[in-house]
Amino acid sequence: MPVPLSPDEARQFLDSAESPAAYLDLLDAVSFRSAGAALRLGVFEALADGPLPVAEIATRTGTDPLGLRLLLDALAGYGYLTRADGRYANSANTARWLLRAAPDSFAPVLSFWTTVVTGWWHDLEESIRTGGPTGDFYAWLEKQPETLADFQTMLRRLSGWLGGEIVDLLPVGADDRSLLDVGGGHAGYPVAFLRAHPHLRATVVDLPGALEQGAVTVAEAGLTDRVTLCPGDLFTADWGTGHDLVLLFNIVHGYQREQVSSLLCRAAAALRPGGRVALLEPLAEVPQRPPGPGEAFVRMFSLNLFHTQGGRAYDFPELADLLAGAGFTDVRQTMLTRSDTDHLVTAVLG
Ligand SMILES: C[S@@+](CC[C@H](N)C(=O)[O-])C[C@H]1O[C@@H](n2cnc3c(N)ncnc32)[C@H](O)[C@@H]1O
Repeated sequence: MPVPLSPDEARQFLDSAESPAAYLDLLDAVSFRSAGAALRLGVFEALADGPLPVAEIATRTGTDPLGLRLLLDALAGYGYLTRADGRYANSANTARWLLRAAPDSFAPVLSFWTTVVTGWWHDLEESIRTGGPTGDFYAWLEKQPETLADFQTMLRRLSGWLGGEIVDLLPVGADDRSLLDVGGGHAGYPVAFLRAHPHLRATVVDLPGALEQGAVTVAEAGLTDRVTLCPGDLFTADWGTGHDLVLLFNIVHGYQREQVSSLLCRAAAALRPGGRVALLEPLAEVPQRPPGPGEAFVRMFSLNLFHTQGGRAYDFPELADLLAGAGFTDVRQTMLTRSDTDHLVTAVLG
């Protein structure tokens, strides 16, 4: 959590030359990292049922009592924990957001981004110098089962939040039969479409590890007979032909222009004439909605995409140009009402 400051104290750092704002960034970075450590060590879960003394938390988490006490004090200073009568407790915000049992828990997000920032951003300078990613992000992710599960859980929950609006924005005709979800991993979006349209079937192409969570989502929805999961690489797997609707949700931002162009051409080849493609993306143009973290998120996200995958957040004219180059017309953009950053971009083949 950000360092707790009064408005006057914050002004001294942010609106005056009296103090370096970077000092707050240093403290906030340590706050983020400490919370990630507490999450991984199981501190918040240990405190789920009420306050405990440090010795008991150390026993439950298998940690060193002195090191743990210093971590707990740091977390209390930031507001993740409270401390009274020699016992530590989850703060109200931690209890609300960082316990894993909550259906909308923020724990998978904090855990995933802790791994990205500590595991990938240590050599950020390198990608900026060389102009390319320092590794293969998704190949790496496939080898990290816990991080992969956090990643797909985070996105599946987002699909639960956004899916209804997206289904409403993409009408499916009575004659439409087939939806292809490219890089659909957790399968939350095809399940939303199939629930709304009983005559539709879906195919999901993704890497094998990513599809493990997809298989669970589909089974829990009772849709195994209407969904085909196809493990494979996006650039080489068989996407089939004659689909009515192709979803490319949060995919193109992972790639450079030429690769995006190639994916869009593959989408065109997989569609029937007049079929539609839909992209879900945080676009580079961030709308001026009421103040919030949307702009900061998109800039951070775009930098992360460049560093980890060689991609970036595209702007709408660039995507429209790429779609036109792949043979699509009637390119449209809609900002989702349930998100500060996500846009649906749709286009028709031919
Ligand atoms: C950002 S996630 C988006 C997941 C889902 N479409 C959504 O919007 O929630 C990107 C997905 O693309 C998959 N992916 C990335 N590179 C891939 C590749 N080369 N071949 C197959 N799938 C890939 C990942 O495994 C992951 O599930």
